Order: sequence, then C-alpha cells, then structure tokens
Amino acid sequence: MNEEQRLASQQVKQPEPSDKKSEKDYSKYFQSVYTAPSLKDAKKRGKEEVQYHKDFAIDEKYLGMGHGRKFYIRTYGCQMNEHDTEVMAGIFLQLGYEATNKVEDANVILMNTCAIRENAENKVFGELGHFKPLKQKNPDLLIGVCGCMSQEEAVVKKILKTYDQVDMIFGTHNIHRLPDILNEAYMSKEMVIEVWSKEGDVIENLPKVRKGNTKAWVNIMYGCDKFCTYCIVPYTRGKERSRRPDDIIQEVRQLAAQGYKEVTLLGQNVNAYGKDFEDLKYGLGDLMNELRTIDIPRIRFTTSHPRDFDDYLIEVLAKKGNLVEHIHLPVQSGSSDMLKIMARKYTRESYLELVRKIRKAIPDVALTTDIIVGFPNETDEQFEETLSLYKEVGFEMAFTYIYSPREGTPAAKMQDNVPMEVKKERLQRLNDVVNQLCGEAIKQYDGQIVEVLVEGESKRNPNVLAGYTRKNKLVNFVAPKEVIGQIVKVQVTEAKTWSLQGDFIEVVTDQKVEL
Ligand code: 5AD
Ligand code: SF4
Repeated sequence: MNEEQRLASQQVKQPEPSDKKSEKDYSKYFQSVYTAPSLKDAKKRGKEEVQYHKDFAIDEKYLGMGHGRKFYIRTYGCQMNEHDTEVMAGIFLQLGYEATNKVEDANVILMNTCAIRENAENKVFGELGHFKPLKQKNPDLLIGVCGCMSQEEAVVKKILKTYDQVDMIFGTHNIHRLPDILNEAYMSKEMVIEVWSKEGDVIENLPKVRKGNTKAWVNIMYGCDKFCTYCIVPYTRGKERSRRPDDIIQEVRQLAAQGYKEVTLLGQNVNAYGKDFEDLKYGLGDLMNELRTIDIPRIRFTTSHPRDFDDYLIEVLAKKGNLVEHIHLPVQSGSSDMLKIMARKYTRESYLELVRKIRKAIPDVALTTDIIVGFPNETDEQFEETLSLYKEVGFEMAFTYIYSPREGTPAAKMQDNVPMEVKKERLQRLNDVVNQLCGEAIKQYDGQIVEVLVEGESKRNPNVLAGYTRKNKLVNFVAPKEVIGQIVKVQVTEAKTWSLQGDFIEVVTDQKVEL
C-alpha cells in the first residue's frame, strides 16, 4: 500500500457526541485534512507484515519551502523523542530551513511531547500558552505539537478547544510526512491534524542532524506490545517492529567511520528485538554479537524488559569489548502481586534470578532501574518489598516515579485507595535509599583510574570538562579542551553522591575492539 492509499484507507474517528465544542471543531478540520488519533485503534495488533520503506526522499516541490525561515524544536521525554527531534531537524534542513535556539526568532515552533506522566503533559500545555503572544506578533509563525501527546484523543480535543494558536498536530508515525504537513499548514487556515493510530512500517534513510559528534542514538526497533497496565507507550508508539539487522549494522559502521565514540541502541523494549521477523531467527543477542566487531569504543542499549532478557544476550554481553558493563533493567516494583497487576509478566523471584545470572556472567556489571510507587492499592508491605528488592540487587541508580493514571490504560480504571500523601512519603523513602546506595556505589571509585568519554564543558563551570565512564558515571576534571570527544584516563580524587571528580592523566589512543 502506498502513502496515498493508506491515507485514504485510514478511518476518521468521530468525536464523543457529548462533547459539543470539540464536535464542532472536529468537523471544521475534516474539511482540510486527514486523521485524528484513536486509542482504541492504537491498541489493536494486526498480523499484517511490517513494510520497509528504503527510499525516504523529499518531494522536489518542497525543496525551497524553508528558504529564509527558521525552525525551533523543544523536546520532552525519552531518548526516542530526542532522536525523533534529530530526524525532524534533518528534514527541516533538507527543506531549506535554518535552525535557531531562540524561540522568538522561529518561523516554525515544534513541541515534541511526552505522554508518560501527567506532569509532562501539563508542562506542554503551559508552554503552548506562552507561545500565544508570539503568534500575535508574527502571523506567519507555525506552531506544531508532535510526539506522544498527539497520539491521545483527549489531548487533540483539548488543543482544538483551548489552544487555537496551534497550527499542526502530527503523530509519532507521521514524522516522515513533515514536509506535507508543513505545506498543508501554510495553505490551510484550519488546524492540520495528521495522527495515524496504527502503524506497521519502518522507514529507512531518514535524514538526521545528530546532537554532537561523539555519541549517537540508533533506533533498532519501534513500538511496544507489552501493554503494562499503567503505560501509554503501546498506544502512542504502536506495535513492535524491528529494523533489519543490515540497516542497523550499516548505520553503526557509518557512525564509527565518522568518528563517533559511542552508540546507544534505542527501543521501548529492546529485548523484543527481532521477535517480529517472520523470515529470520535473530534477536538482540545476535545483533550485539555482530555490533561488537565494529570498531567503535562503546555500545549501549536502552530500555530492557526483564521478561525477554535471554541467556544468549547475557553470554554476548559478557564478552565485553565495546559492549559496556551497564544495564538499565526497569523493575517497577519488588512485589510479585503488584507486578502481576502491572502485567509485567515476571515475578520478584524471576527478576532476582535474572540479576544473579547477569552478575555471574558479568561480575562488575552496574545495574540501574525504574520504579513506580503508589500504583493503585499498593500496600505498605508491597512497598517494603520494593525497598528490600532495591537493596538486595544493589542498584547503582534509579529513576523513581509516583504512579500517574493515563487515560485509556487499564490501570486508569482501577479504584485507588492510596492517598497522595502516602505516595509522596513512599517516594521520599525510596529516594533516600536510592541516594544512599548511589553514594556507596560511587565511593568504590575513589582513588581508581577510570576511562571517560569526554562530552564537553561542565554545565556549572566552563573551565571543567565532563564525561561519562562505561558504567555511566559522570566525571568532572580539568584538561585541555582538545580532549573533548576523546576517551581519556582520569585518576579519581573525590567521589560525590552523583559524580566523580578527578585528575586528567592521558588520552586513550588504543581503542581496538577485542574479539
Ligand atoms: N506513571 C508513572 N510512571 C510511569 N512510567 C511509565 N508509565 C508510568 C505511569 N503511568 C515509568 C516507568 C517506565 C518509565 C519510562 O516511566 O517506570 O519504566
Ligand atoms: Fe511501557 Fe515499557 Fe511496559 Fe512497554 S514495556 S508497556 S514501554 S513500561
């Protein structure tokens, strides 16, 4: 099916009959454009094959579109969004736009949004309010909302109702259609909305403007089929679909040839990589085993799901070389009962067993995690189990969150008897443990020599340089600026809670990959 046929076949959803205002506004945009999001459609997982489009190219008629115009993109959320922003920036440049980091100078402003928790969404609505005066000053200005929030029906309705300064809303599956969407927005007086709820495709050769020339993100798969009961991602990012190994390997080779020092492989659940291939038995372990032969000093991946973390992957990671000994392995809760209600598909015991296997194969591995506290009806005992699991594993760091109900997910319909006060107390208690263990983990480095990939000047002090170790520890030190982008040795002189301080020794020149 080509793009036009697909557009024609997309079903346009009617608004809720009770919502008079949005009904009126929806009908307004029907005249001009395409598709509104539907969480119900986004939930469906069809058997249809993933289509691979190898030939992204910008239609000649759009090539001068950005002449004399500037774009500004504000990015919220995860690395996947950061990387989508790099792709959109690449498309803007091909259209002839110039980048600006001043919102006042922009002719197009895009908000690349995150839907994972309510406060992420509130920030975006707040910002949209601030853009209203800019629009009044410059009627040629286009304001767009993209990313995960645009996949939500409720968000699109709210924007239609309240934020008429917005000109375009497009979804996570529509990024490659940016030239057409911009064109439509310039031509039309109505808000342009193009959000596909179901997407089974992988589009290769999208242009990218990577941030910096040291570290790069590489998508290996899109979407998620896990449907954890609290999570909106399977609805906003669609079904699991993997890029073909050859395309990934070629991209990493190219990055190595361009002098990049680190690649992070991206996916919502990278351990499901390859499960959707019908013609090939090939998983994340196979991919890592091939990537480790590429002459690039560091390869990471994020995010893992414990359920799909198999023995072969552990065996490959244990070979180390350019595969770093840091694994981010979200656990979410230490209680098997809670994990069951969250539909995580593993238990406390099987998670601990996986950790034992990983540690046996990679004794010096650094493990980090994500945890949600205050899931509906979480008891004190269940929360205590999370604390005890955290200590038992000895995580070096964690991202911790209070549960946020997301409309359309099963958990959002659950009765919740945990008061917000209790949730906040639990978060505080958990964070105290996280800080304590982080401080203990970092103390081990005191006096050691560590290898640091130098990213640039420290945010606080331009005379100090900053970078990360293989295990993702932040290191600050003084050295000539020429070492930015290189891997250097640093003697640690002080271990603080979240970072290390040290003395620069030398640049590491021999980064040959051990096979
Ligand atoms: N509420 C709170 N935290 C959430 N996460 C995902 N969905 C929610 C939610 N509804 C957290 C999980 C996930 C991380 C990216 O965000 O811990 O691993
Ligand atoms: Fe969300 Fe991750 Fe669960 Fe997928 S595996 S539903 S992205 S928490």
